[in-house]
Amino acid sequence: MSPAPHIVVLTGAGVSADSGLATFRGAGGLWEGHRVEEVATPEAWAADARLVWRFYQMRRAALNEVEPNPAHHALAHLERETRARGGRFTLISQNVDDLHERAGSTLLHMHGSLASLRCEACGAHVHNLDFLDPERFLPCSACDHHRMRPDIVWFGEMPFHLDEIDAAVRSATRFLSCGTSGNVYPAAGLLALARAWSAETFVNSLDEPMNLDPADRFLPGPAAEVIPRLVAEWLGAG
Ligand code: OAD
Repeated sequence: MSPAPHIVVLTGAGVSADSGLATFRGAGGLWEGHRVEEVATPEAWAADARLVWRFYQMRRAALNEVEPNPAHHALAHLERETRARGGRFTLISQNVDDLHERAGSTLLHMHGSLASLRCEACGAHVHNLDFLDPERFLPCSACDHHRMRPDIVWFGEMPFHLDEIDAAVRSATRFLSCGTSGNVYPAAGLLALARAWSAETFVNSLDEPMNLDPADRFLPGPAAEVIPRLVAEWLGAG
């Protein structure tokens, strides 16, 4: 008996590029003008929390300027339809924007989220996109500690949800990697893991990613065009 379908999708910065958010490694990439180690490490937070806070508060505010694009909407539709037909669906994202959830998806944010803050003392995650002051810190509503930090996985920190992600990928029957350059592990290893566990593997990206080898099909082009087509093909095929 063939296993119940389990579609697993991994997204990266490219899925949000068509919404106007810069990718990490492309021209005009996110870190231009900001050295990564100035803003995206625990050491940077320890050395100059005000600089790091200002940078992330600006990025949180910038979420108000962007909207989900057809790729986000197509993946949310795929999730609903797959579940309605009795299959499983898992969406994993390396992105810290909130465009997937605004399109209606449920997902695992393996590199954290701009839409929430985390207490540096008690570790509580608090959803908050209302407090956008770049000059003042926000106290923790759970333990009253004077300062929350961005809820982002910084360089040198452990990604979130790794056990759940590992289990999902091993049971995938179809795995789609979308808009990620395959540079950053462990995310970049998930395609090969899915292939090793017999999933049919698909990759969409503008440029060939570093980790393309285990892909059964490479679908080059903008995610906002390619993903709705692929979803229609999968759903049409039942
Ligand atoms: P990258 O900037 O490394 O790669 C973006 C990928 O998206 C590239 O392969 C592009 O070809 C592709 N791309 C660009 N525009 C696209 C479009 N319109 N449609 C489809 N694909 C497009 O971003 P990530 O791979 O997501 O980690 O970066 C991975 C991690 O590196 C990030 O999560 C971040 C960074 O360090 C942390 O912050 C921990």
